[in-house]
Amino acid sequence: MRNLVVDAERLWSDLMEAAAIGGTAKGGVCRLTLTDLDRQVRDWFKARCEALGLTVTVDDMGTMFARRAGQRNDLPPIAFGSHLDTQPTGGKFDGALGVLAALEAVRTLVEAGYETYAPIEIVNWTNEEGARFAPSMTASGVFAGVFTRDWAAARTDRDGVSFGAALEAIGYRGEEPCGRHPLSAFFELHIEQGPILEMEGKDIGVVTGVQGLRWYEVLVTGQDAHTGATPMHMRRNALLGAARLVDRVDAIALAHAPLAVGTVGMMEVRPNSRNVVPGEVFLTVDLRHPESAVLDSMERALVASLSEICDPLGLRVSMERIADAPPVRFDPDCVASVRAAAAAAGYATRDIVSGAGHDAAYVARVAPTAMIFVPSRGGISHNEAEFSSKEQCAAGAQVLLQAVLDYDRRLAERAGREP
Ligand code: GLV
Ligand code: MN
Ligand code: MN
Repeated sequence: MRNLVVDAERLWSDLMEAAAIGGTAKGGVCRLTLTDLDRQVRDWFKARCEALGLTVTVDDMGTMFARRAGQRNDLPPIAFGSHLDTQPTGGKFDGALGVLAALEAVRTLVEAGYETYAPIEIVNWTNEEGARFAPSMTASGVFAGVFTRDWAAARTDRDGVSFGAALEAIGYRGEEPCGRHPLSAFFELHIEQGPILEMEGKDIGVVTGVQGLRWYEVLVTGQDAHTGATPMHMRRNALLGAARLVDRVDAIALAHAPLAVGTVGMMEVRPNSRNVVPGEVFLTVDLRHPESAVLDSMERALVASLSEICDPLGLRVSMERIADAPPVRFDPDCVASVRAAAAAAGYATRDIVSGAGHDAAYVARVAPTAMIFVPSRGGISHNEAEFSSKEQCAAGAQVLLQAVLDYDRRLAERAGREP
């Protein structure tokens, strides 16, 4: 493993340039998937890759692959990357760091004239966030065979626009069928999005797995009525039922402490008029835990709470589970490459299980995969104030580069060749 060093300034300048595309007044980024801003950042990223001599291809879910040839171009590439879409009030680092650190790593290799054994590819997965089209990690889910392409393309946003139509509209539906793109391995660098690394003064998280995640959509139906003329005992107030459900989701997570989390993150109140008793509420539930058996128990409690809360209020309620990403354990060889890379650079590390979902969690089903975390200031993410320093980002990029080279060297050794 030669001692190649990434350029912290260059990576930071790329991060800031990308953050300007959809940049918000509060210093964050709003770049929802498959919008015109997403097209702009994709065009920018593609131009950057092509300037480095990489070949950019796109699959029919819009995922981008930027390839640099190696010695053995018959081998599947070692891939690294993340996503360039953001939450509506997202930060500059969630997703972008993993893609742009991979770009910086390739730039470092190109400058040094270092030829890898396997080809390498930078990946930008479509719709990791799931903010516009649920569920999250859509393209990596199709890539891994979790969802069918047609089902994913038919997902609609809250305005009724389909994923497929939005993808066509920005001109990023490629030819290659999603999933027909074998990988030798996949590495994803990401900000932690939680407080642990910062609290413990660690530079790098060696991510050993990802906790399980389940998403639900709930529709509570009552009756629109006049707020002034309808006596309290005659109301069927859907928002009152929804409010009690919000409280119950919180209680269910607390009852499965310390690791469980549960959130109602989105609610649509109809008709949303101050002098109408709300007749209908749509809400989302997000439950997470590192163990499937605990998620089963949380789900049972949630299902039981629906009629228990809504029946006495005269409300109808329906719920659909729209995503189920089971807990993941990453590949021991890939994790070993991350550990070796962090140790070689002298960073303080700890093993960590990801609280957030990531494309790597689905890719792990079809390729050896691991992740690297860097600290998030104050543990804050999915927030415009999200921050990791130039040095922290560069440390992550350095470990990413060396982990990929370590894995590449192992591939070459297994084949009896030195890169
Ligand atoms: C993705 O950011 C998720 O964990 O929901
Ligand atoms: Mn992310
Ligand atoms: Mn995110």
